Amino acid sequence: MTDANKVPRLRSLPIDQRLDAIARAVGLGEADVAAVRAGLSLEQAGHMIENVVATYALPLGIAENFRVNGRDVLVPMVVEEASVVAACGYAAKLTRARGGFTASSTDPIMIGQIQTLDVPDLDAALARIAAEAPALIAWLNTGNPSTRSTHARAVGIEGRVVTGAEGPFLVVHVLYDCGDAMGANLINTACEALAPRIEALTGGRVNLRILSNYSTKRLASARCEIPVAALSEDATEALAAAERIVEASVFAESDPYRAVTHNKGVMNGIDAVLMATGNDWRAVEAAAHAWAAREGHYGAMTRWRLNAAGDALVGEIELPMAVGTVGGATRSHPSAQVALKILSLTGARALAEVIVCVGLAQNFGALRALAMEGIQRGHMGLHARQVAIAAGATGEQIERIAAQMVSEGNVRAARATELVRGET
Ligand code: MEV
Repeated sequence: MTDANKVPRLRSLPIDQRLDAIARAVGLGEADVAAVRAGLSLEQAGHMIENVVATYALPLGIAENFRVNGRDVLVPMVVEEASVVAACGYAAKLTRARGGFTASSTDPIMIGQIQTLDVPDLDAALARIAAEAPALIAWLNTGNPSTRSTHARAVGIEGRVVTGAEGPFLVVHVLYDCGDAMGANLINTACEALAPRIEALTGGRVNLRILSNYSTKRLASARCEIPVAALSEDATEALAAAERIVEASVFAESDPYRAVTHNKGVMNGIDAVLMATGNDWRAVEAAAHAWAAREGHYGAMTRWRLNAAGDALVGEIELPMAVGTVGGATRSHPSAQVALKILSLTGARALAEVIVCVGLAQNFGALRALAMEGIQRGHMGLHARQVAIAAGATGEQIERIAAQMVSEGNVRAARATELVRGET
């Protein structure tokens, strides 16, 4: 039985007891805990990619305080950057006064593309595809063994004319409801299976047959409110901070130079959950940035405004979110399996919904820090520890040297080396 609220503050626990606390709260078995501690074996890695020589570890942290659609959820995040997990959990905490996040998602529809060239009559081809679409869909779902699936089904076939450098050509879109899978394999198989039929139907020549990562029919969105009063004990300061956050949002909405950095902050959170759950973060990244430019200019992935009463910031996000909870690395990576158990989800749509909440929270954490104290203060402590470790500090020496560099305002490799040498 999951109870994300029953976990004591992770920071207050010794690092080697935190996973056990999570396990008790979400009902992980001993085998799950052992699997996460062991990580990916060399043999498992060798089944995933080619020419494996070793595995490469990254920190797995848990963001606390998330409440999504009325359910408390602990969020596993794999990320190497300091402050990301803490900022995300802090932002999530501020949303709780107003019920946490509300999130929703579309059906998990993915698109496959069949590029069809040398079509003698594009209009006639479009008409034929529209007329034959129901029969082709039925063939994919029931007639053809390689595309028949118990968890996914073809739901549409559409022709489009795309104008290229050498003139117009036909692109056939194959739409699949992928259920809890990301769907890439099935879509690619379907595109390849369908290609000869498209050639016969259009008189054209098929070139590429491949999934589109621009998953505009598989969207997830989230909304939250953060009380202005949560930003500072001083009411005037709190309102000023909220207004600066809105100004920061407008900056990113209007200027691509800022939008890229703003969105990088959103993706800090999103990618970390994608990594933890074994999902394809490059696919989601590519779609998210294209979506941010869908209105003809690159803009912000989130939007923050004051509500009508002026007492809360309202944050919103909507992104394509092609994620799965079955198949691929979600299944083959032992830690990803456990990460999904920690999330205790009903399926891929619920995962997509949590992920956009994390993106929104991460963005708020960054904007709050930027608009209030500047980003460096929070970053410096952990950064100083990394600099100390790189200079050779070990054990308790790491904290001591990091604290000294922060208090001196001199977090540099040369200073760290000096301090390490001074202690040896
Ligand atoms: C750093 O990884 C992310 C930020 O730059 C995001 C932002 O500026 O909004 C802090």
